[in-house]
This record gives sequence, C-alpha cells and structure tokens, in this order.
Amino acid sequence: MTFVFQVDTFTLMEFTAEIKKATEPIYQKISKAIPEIEWPSHAPYIYKINKLKKEKNAVILAHNYQTPEIYHGISDFSADSLALAVEAARTSADIIVMCGVHFMAETAKLMSPRKKVLLPDMSAGCSLSSSITGKDVKNLKKKYPGVPVVSYVNTSADVKSETDVCCTSANAVKIVNSLGVKKVIFLPDDYLAKYVATQTDVEIISWKGTCEVHEQFNDEEINEIRKNNPGIKVIAHPECPPDVISASDFTGSTSGMIKYVKDNQPEKVMMVTECSMSDNVQIDNPNVKFIRPCNLCPHMKKITLPKILDCLQNETNEILMDQDIIEKARKSVERMTEIGR
Ligand code: 13P
Ligand code: SF4
Repeated sequence: MTFVFQVDTFTLMEFTAEIKKATEPIYQKISKAIPEIEWPSHAPYIYKINKLKKEKNAVILAHNYQTPEIYHGISDFSADSLALAVEAARTSADIIVMCGVHFMAETAKLMSPRKKVLLPDMSAGCSLSSSITGKDVKNLKKKYPGVPVVSYVNTSADVKSETDVCCTSANAVKIVNSLGVKKVIFLPDDYLAKYVATQTDVEIISWKGTCEVHEQFNDEEINEIRKNNPGIKVIAHPECPPDVISASDFTGSTSGMIKYVKDNQPEKVMMVTECSMSDNVQIDNPNVKFIRPCNLCPHMKKITLPKILDCLQNETNEILMDQDIIEKARKSVERMTEIGR
C-alpha cells in the first residue's frame, strides 16, 4: 500500500521580536503540548489571525478535536457540536470561521444564514455525513411511513432538510424521548443508535453509518490499558462500538468528557476518542495523567493555521446553500435547540 501525505504549501513567516513578545502568554499556556522548536512556525500565524479577526469582526469557532495551536491559540469559542451550533446562532460577528468539518460549517450557516461562514478546507468531511444522502432519507420515510426521523448533526444540510429533528451526542437520548412515540428512525450512526437504544424504551430503526475514527477502538485494547494502569478511568464517546462503551466508566459527548475530567480530576484517564482532545484537555488539567489512544480524524486535521489565515484574509471557502434547503434544514436544528432548552 502507498501512503501519500499532503503537505500544506505555505510560506514560513518571520518570527519577529514583536511577535515573540505578543504571543508569549499563549505559548506559556500551551508549552506542554507544543515543543519550543515548533513555536516559531505557529506564532506568526497566531499573531496575524488574532489581529485580523478583530479588524474584520470575525469569530473563530473550534471543535474540541482541533490541534492545540488552534484550540488554545486563536479560537474564541471551543466546544462540541451542540454548543458550536448554539454559539453560531448567538454570535454578533460578521464572519464565522469554522475550525471543524463541513457539516459543522453548514450547521453554522443554517443557524446564522445572513453571516459569512468560512471553512478553511472545503474537503474536511466526515465518514458519518457521507454515509447517507437526502434521497436515502426519502426512501426510509417511504419504507416507514409516519415514523419520525431523528438525524445526528453529523449529516449534510440535504439530509437535515428531510429530518424532523436533529440531535448531537450530547442530547440524543433526550431528543428521542421527547418525541413521545414508540418508534423512530435514527440516522446515520449505527453505534450511536445502539447506545441510544440502551438508554430508552423507544424502538430505534438505524442506518449503517460509522465514524471511521471511533470504530477503530475495541474492548481488548481498553482491558489491556486497565491491566497496565490500575485505577484508570476510561471515558468514551458514544460513536464507539458497544463493546467499548460497556468497557468504559463514562460515556458522553466531547464536552461531556471534558466536564467529566474537570469535575472528577482522576489520577489517570483514557479518553476513547480523537487524539488531539487529550492534548487540549491536558493543558487545562495539569494534575491528570492522560493515557492516549492515538486515532486522528483525517478530516479535522485538514484545518491548519495557514489555511485559516488564507481563508480569513481573502474571505474564500464560503459556505453557500440554496435558500430552500436552508429554511427546511434549519427547522430540524432549531427544533433540537428548543427541546434542549
Ligand atoms: P461531539 O458533538 O461530541 O463534539 O462530536 C462530534 C464528532 O464529530 C465526534 O466525532
Ligand atoms: Fe466525523 Fe468521526 Fe471525524 Fe467526528 S471523528 S468528524 S464523526 S469522521
């Protein structure tokens, strides 16, 4: 098998004394995650992006899986998918730069249709989102007439436009229970659907989508880590397979996992999710030892400082959608946020 690594083409910017001084407080915070030798390659971008976002009244929203230089260096708001959607609706900025994947930028556009929403790399996708189309949902509705459709937020706007109500990993059980029905179509994540089914009496009809990052974990790996680290707390994202969830001490959204670490301050923890999150959470929880399973999301990792600067500077990579799709898809996201209130 041949592996092809795509390297960003960007010019190395000068690490001046002024930039060094201005970015020093940021480096002090994230020095545990970024070696000193790498800082001169990040700092000029961080400096320029932070300056530019003020000049343009732009806000940078970052998902919890972004790398530490983005998460701690330039983001105005870092969170899980639910909180990012809520923040996109709330912000008074003119421009939203979404440091995340395509469905997150689309969701931000649905929530703030008059704002300019930029995604630094338009090819940052998601295996769950690409597992299903709006046409597939139409067919499911024909097969199960009258059964409400609950779609995970990790879907395209096209799928959302065929959806009754959206959910995220933070509120999936609550949304399903809130409908007061015996049966729902829950898509596209088969593992999340299985997890929800363990938490509710509602019958779940699922779809065969999976997250390419979380499906790689297994319970053998967790048992081995427990054997070598007595007392460790294992916390898992609900996109993981059922054997992994059963072998874990806690299951929650990315922000739910962060809150667990913050509140419980375990001596040792393993976050069974994307790798960068442990780096980010470690910085805010210096007394916790993180045992890191390393599965990276290739889509999240397409977002880099040079691409962020480029799209903010030139206002490129704008999310544009048909008004009709925006109207229909927004209803399913708004219904979710109303139930969550
Ligand atoms: P959260 O909503 O929990 O942040 O999850 C989003 C995601 O894509 C996880 O893989
Ligand atoms: Fe999609 Fe999985 Fe990446 Fe999350 S981690 S964006 S679900 S591929």
